[in-house]
Amino acid sequence: MRKVKVAVAGATGAVGREMLKVLEERDFPVAELVPLASERSAGKPVEFKGHEIIVRRLAPDSFAGVDIALFSPGATVSREFAPHAARAGAVVVDNSSAFRMDADVPLVVPEVNPKAVELAVRPGGRRIIANPNCSTIQLVVVLKPLHDAAQLDRVIVSTYQSVSGAGQKGIDELEKQSRALFNMGEIKASKFPHRIAFNLLPEIGPATPNGYTEEEMKMVNESRKILELPDLRISATCVRVPVFYCHSEAVNLTFRRDLPPDEAREILRRARGVKVVDDLSQHVYPMPLLGAGDDDTLVGRIRRDLAQERGLSLFVVSDNLRKGAATNAVQIAELLLSDYPGALGALN
Ligand SMILES: NC(=O)c1ccc[n+]([C@@H]2O[C@H](COP(=O)([O-])OP(=O)(O)OC[C@H]3O[C@@H](n4cnc5c(N)ncnc54)[C@H](OP(=O)(O)O)[C@@H]3O)[C@@H](O)[C@H]2O)c1
Repeated sequence: MRKVKVAVAGATGAVGREMLKVLEERDFPVAELVPLASERSAGKPVEFKGHEIIVRRLAPDSFAGVDIALFSPGATVSREFAPHAARAGAVVVDNSSAFRMDADVPLVVPEVNPKAVELAVRPGGRRIIANPNCSTIQLVVVLKPLHDAAQLDRVIVSTYQSVSGAGQKGIDELEKQSRALFNMGEIKASKFPHRIAFNLLPEIGPATPNGYTEEEMKMVNESRKILELPDLRISATCVRVPVFYCHSEAVNLTFRRDLPPDEAREILRRARGVKVVDDLSQHVYPMPLLGAGDDDTLVGRIRRDLAQERGLSLFVVSDNLRKGAATNAVQIAELLLSDYPGALGALN
């Protein structure tokens, strides 16, 4: 496999640092790494493969000779700089919400819709691929094989999302508030609208006019796009919980044909990127403690819905910084390298 020049925009953030780790762990063939961030971090080092590499300030001309640009500097910055990277010849994999719902940008989870990548890299393509929202990724990884078997009719999902989903500032805020609570110190909330330590917040992202939050509507719209089910009946409630890593989801599904729990378990055991962790009698089920650092999505508590026919309930946990962001982005980069190598750096 040929080696490629990789830029990581947002390299000092919670997702960016995880991307460096994942690139290294998966032995991605990096010829040269270009870590980029704002002027706050320019000049500081990041570690990659045992070497310190100096972070540069993200600028329109940061992408000369870059084959793949992994972006996680937030939506506003992605919207401004991803087109510069694409124009310079890189293929961009963007973690933000900036391009996810654009009709000419594929929204990709490699286990679910790998072929969608082609839309971005075919001649005249936009050369931008969007990484879905973290809570959406772990949901569709589980939904897709079940849908293929029994046709989804309705999805109700309630999430328990960790503070790292709000970036490094979210992690810092839970830590500081927890310390302050134990030391009778002053509790300050800045990243979240209320105290998050020993509390939970049924609000992730700004409100939308229909009474849902943006995070909830991302789960609805992105799941429909990835699964190519534009009319899927799906509704979400997203809750921030005082957990550092991993998002958890209680998922209730209705299918067009009956899908017994044992059959669902068997289908999920064979599914790529999924680990069935399901033995209630032995207290075995997905938990953030089990999922942190794992690239698979854990699923368990698989049981019949007692309130409706052809219904199943299950519990899903995944590491939001890994499969929910960095790992999924690097998997897309691997897909580019294996299936579309001619598209990389094609404009240079
Ligand atoms: N956290 C998750 O679980 C998760 C999952 C999926 C997607 N995402 C998305 O990924 C993106 C980043 O999230 P995060 O959690 O990594 O946030 P974060 O910890 O706050 O990191 C933000 C990164 O962006 C950089 N940045 C900010 N403003 C910039 C600018 N003007 N120019 C260049 N770089 C800039 C920061 O650099 P400095 O060090 O210079 O400030 C930092 O490296 C967001 O769009 C988020 O929605 C996050």
